[in-house]
Order: sequence, then C-alpha cells, then structure tokens
Amino acid sequence: MRTSLHQYLIDNREKNLEELLSWLKIPSISTLSEHRKDVKNAAEWAEKKLQEIGFPEVELIEGEGHPLVYAQWLTDNNQPTLLFYGHYDVQPADPLNEWHTPPFQPYIDKDNIYARGATDDKGQVMIVLAALEAWVKSEGKLPVNVKVLLEGEEEAGGASVEAFVREYGDRLTADAALICDTHMNSVDQPSLIIGLRGILYTEIIVKGAKRDLHSGSYGGVAPNPIHALCLLLSRLKGENGRIDIPGIYVSSVPVSDEEKDFWHRDAEALEKRLLKEMGVEQLVGEKHVSVHGRLGIRPTLEVHGIRGGFIGEGAKTVIPAEALAKVSLRLPAGSRPTEVFKQLEHAVQQKMPKGYTVVVRNLHSGDGVAVSPENRYINAAAEAIAEIYGVRPVFMREGGSIPITALFDSILHIPVVLMGFGLSDDGAHGPNEKFSLNQFYKGMDTVADFLGRLRN
Ligand code: BES
Ligand code: ZN
Repeated sequence: MRTSLHQYLIDNREKNLEELLSWLKIPSISTLSEHRKDVKNAAEWAEKKLQEIGFPEVELIEGEGHPLVYAQWLTDNNQPTLLFYGHYDVQPADPLNEWHTPPFQPYIDKDNIYARGATDDKGQVMIVLAALEAWVKSEGKLPVNVKVLLEGEEEAGGASVEAFVREYGDRLTADAALICDTHMNSVDQPSLIIGLRGILYTEIIVKGAKRDLHSGSYGGVAPNPIHALCLLLSRLKGENGRIDIPGIYVSSVPVSDEEKDFWHRDAEALEKRLLKEMGVEQLVGEKHVSVHGRLGIRPTLEVHGIRGGFIGEGAKTVIPAEALAKVSLRLPAGSRPTEVFKQLEHAVQQKMPKGYTVVVRNLHSGDGVAVSPENRYINAAAEAIAEIYGVRPVFMREGGSIPITALFDSILHIPVVLMGFGLSDDGAHGPNEKFSLNQFYKGMDTVADFLGRLRN
C-alpha cells in the first residue's frame, strides 16, 4: 500500500474517530417513528461528510420513508466504477438497563467504541468514508469512479432503497458493489462473505373472545389466545429445531468442498466460541446439520417477541382477548420469501387450535444471496486483506441479511464484495454493541488499499 495513504490515515485517526463519535450520538432508530427527525439528522450528517470529502454531486433523496443519501464522483472513463452501499440507521437500543454506558453517548475504552451503531453500520461506513477521503487528500483524487448509496431503513426492511434501485437502477450503473456490514471470522483469520440468508418478517395475531374475561368466571371454557399462540409456535418448530412448514427445506445452497472442509476443521472452535459468547452450556437446533450450516444456509424460525394479556406488576386474573407474536424466518439464497409467506400462512391455518381466528402479516422480506467468489473485485478484496492482515481471507457465509445485496445481483447484475470488519463478539442489535478500534483503523487501510487495486 502507498506510504502516503497509510501515513495520512495514521495522522488522521483522531479526527476520524471524533467524526464517528459525532455520528454515533444521533439516535437514528429507523423502526421507531418518534426518531424520524434523528434519522434525518444522521442522513444530513452523511451528506455533509460526503461534501467535505469533495464529492461534486451529493443528494439527499427524500420520499415517504427515511431519506437516501446518494453521491457520485466520476473521475475517469477508463477506470471502473465502484458502488458503495451502507446504512446509517440503527436498531432500537432496548433493554436500556443492560447497557453499561448510554447507547447514544459513545464510550471508548482502550480497545473498543461502545455505542448503538458502532459496528452495525456507522463504524463500518466511516471506514469507507475515511479511506475515500485519504485518497482525495493524499493522492489528489479517487483512484476509480465512486458512487455512494446510503440508506436509513436497512434495519426496518429497506422499502425505500428497494424502490429506488428498481426505479432508478440506471443511475447506479457500476462495475461492482462494496458493502461493509458483516463480520470477520477473527482478526487472525479474516474472511470475506460469499453468502447471506434472506428474511421474512411477520406478525401472527390470534384472537379469542370479543373482550378480556375474568379467569374465574370463564376459565375452563374460554379460548386463551396466548396459550393457543404458544401451541401454534411449538407446532411450527419443535424441540428438535425442525421447522414444520411444507416446502421450507426445498431450496438448498450448493457448498464447495473447500468450504465444507473449513466447516469441518472449524466446527469445534466455532461451537466453543458460540457457547462462550452466548453464555450457555449447549447449542440448540438440528443436531444432524453442522453448526456452520445451521448458521449460514439453513432456514430458521425465530420468535422475537410475544405480546398479550397482563404483564404489569403483581397479579391480575384475566383471560386476554388477543395475543401477538413477532416471528421471522431466515431463508437460504434461492428460496423466495413471498412464496414462503404463503406456505407459512397455510401452515398456520392448519396448525392453529380450533376456536380462534388468526392472521399473519408480512412486515418485510428480502432475498438471500450467494455471490461468486471468483472475479477481479473479490480477488482485489482478498489481496487487500492479505496485505493488511498478513493472512489470506477465507470465504464464509453469514446468517444475517442485507436485502439490497440480492437486488444488486439481480437488478444491477454486478458482483458484490461483502468485506466486513465487525467481529463476532461485537454484539450488534444487543446491549453494549461495540466496534474494535483496531478493526476500525485496519479497515481503513484495507479499503484504501482495495480501492487502489481496482485501477485498470
Ligand atoms: N449488519 C447486519 C447484517 C448482518 C447480520 C450481517 C449478521 C452479518 C451477520 C444488518 O444491519 C442487519 O441487521 N440486517 C437485518 C436485515 C433485516 C432487518 C431485513 C437482519 O439481518 O436482521
Ligand atoms: Zn443490523
């Protein structure tokens, strides 16, 4: 990597960190409407930052949802164009009492930055912004043409960006896309991601009597929607971890021998790490499927929350009229969430105890993706990682979802490089989310190096 670039990044570590902290202070929680203004502020922060870097065209695109931030800097027709995507929205911070320091007052100890959004995804977006800035300030210009698309709804389904890509795909023409919103296997064994699962996020609403009832006067004959919901959920996925929705296991993702080998070699270490991170004594789920498989390509069905009845202090003897569960399914690439929604609806009707009405709502969905590990852009990413980390990356899959990835693949037809700098213990979406400072700075070097390798 060029010394001037590297030196610039070293000299500006403090400044880049300060800037990230100011971004992290904005509580841009996309799913909660009371934070609408904050989400917009976080978008404007990014808009200003892109202008400061020197992007000649920067735009805040506002529609019904949260704004998109779009910027482009086309410097040379003879060089390729890279489209960088990231998100500036964050997950809700609850449960607040489990945070050691407030989620929107970033706290730094010697190794990490603690804040909501630190790793997912503001810290990782900042890596790329800093790398772009380093090129402009130290080399005078960007090495390739760059388009930047940042959204503020990724954590809430990403409806606006999907509509934008579908409608204005031609504005996003590029040779490859870069997304930094995933994890690395570890600092000692960096990885590039070649697959993400899709997602279907639903609400299941069960209704019983027309109003809440006294459990003494009606208990024994009245329908109890909470109990019925629990029965339903346990019929959808039993104790052995198998999902009982006909059709759910039809699509499967081909896995190379090399990857299977790695899964095999890494199985024990992975299980050990997971047990430690979760603080549990055994893993649950389908015993006959490898742990890597269960995390990366196997469908899941998870309940995220259940609402209904009395949950206040003390006791209240009531049979509720309604219960609701938030349920998502993770799906392998090739499986179509809209089809799975129909299969789920059907299975729910079949398995629902009698005497209730039940409705399933589709809140959002996104396709999974399998990217090719063989193209010059992924090669450039692998070389940049090898240069900065001193070890060649392994190709891995992540069980999480980034819905835009599948759209870049299917609509823009461009290779996507999933080069993430998170670590598995960052605690994204949970309390005390963190981002490693070492990864923050190494990430900037890696992306700056990667950009240079893209030149023809
Ligand atoms: N950064 C994650 C995606 C991710 C998660 C990658 C875990 C690798 C491992 C992203 O911000 C995210 O959380 N996506 C959501 C998408 C959903 C709300 C449509 C997810 O996976 O839950
Ligand atoms: Zn996330």
